[in-house]
Amino acid sequence: MKRIGVLTSGGDAPGMNAAIRAVVRKAIFQDIEVFGIKNGFQGLIEGNIEQMEIGSVGDMIQRGGTMLLSARSEEFKTEEGRQKAMEQLNKYGIEGLIIIGGDGSFRGAQKLTEQGYPCIGVPGTIDNDIAGTDFTIGFDTALNTIIEAIDKIRDTATSHERTYIIEVMGRDAGDLALWAGLSGGAESIIIPEKKEDFSDIVNRLKRGHERGKKHSIIIVAEGVGSGFDYGDRIQEATSLETRVTVLGHIQRGGSPTASDRVLASRLGANAVESLLAGKAGKMVGIQNNQLVDRDILEVLAEEHQINNDLYRLSQELSI
Ligand code: F6P
Repeated sequence: MKRIGVLTSGGDAPGMNAAIRAVVRKAIFQDIEVFGIKNGFQGLIEGNIEQMEIGSVGDMIQRGGTMLLSARSEEFKTEEGRQKAMEQLNKYGIEGLIIIGGDGSFRGAQKLTEQGYPCIGVPGTIDNDIAGTDFTIGFDTALNTIIEAIDKIRDTATSHERTYIIEVMGRDAGDLALWAGLSGGAESIIIPEKKEDFSDIVNRLKRGHERGKKHSIIIVAEGVGSGFDYGDRIQEATSLETRVTVLGHIQRGGSPTASDRVLASRLGANAVESLLAGKAGKMVGIQNNQLVDRDILEVLAEEHQINNDLYRLSQELSI
């Protein structure tokens, strides 16, 4: 293999740039040419492709977002769209592709692999919702952004003796909410993977209030519904003064943490090694701090599990 491509797809995540940098530098280190494809699979269809050099990824490791831009392409889901994408790959002589993104991006990677273009997936999403890897690129940074917000909200919650509902991202997954709730000392963590009775949430708040606790923080994962609905229901059930904050896309931005930069560098470089070793249709990941690779088909079929020990602990610590 003498020429490879790299693209980012789906929702961006802090650390994607560090992963692109690792792909580009590792490939050049191995005497391989690298082409950057802008705007994800849509850019591939449209031929938005440029050769990358060592300097193309200079001053990038610390930047949030993705220098290659990202998109969710409907056209690529069609046979014709993929045909156009393959014509571009042929035109540029790109023999293998590295795709940084979430499960939607991996479905695209799998399709191209099946059509003869070896692809390797690199898990990049703040949601941490991919099976086969303990962590995805961007999760740690988003988590730290949430913690910073919780700490600030806690200040005003204390001053005004209020209950705060904080809605965090995660699509259908509760990892961000769970880790943020545990590290932010939340009273309750409401996530799609665990169905907690609403009455338990209310009772915990009431118990705390009776003990003299004047403010509370409740983390709601967007996957269980609207933070505003929970706010209304909680205020009605407890009569405690309640406010709601939806953190939104602020969670997707910002300079990646050291941990995300290291993860992105390791996974990006490993993706290049995997392609050069002749692997295809694989996702590189990290398990127990060791680099692993798994069939994308398996990863897509498996459901990501939340860490039950952490959930139990969070409940024990917020009695
Ligand atoms: O997958 C990342 C994510 O930020 C999810 O947490 C969220 O549900 C979704 O993307 C938001 O997507 P968009 O940026 O298209 O609104």
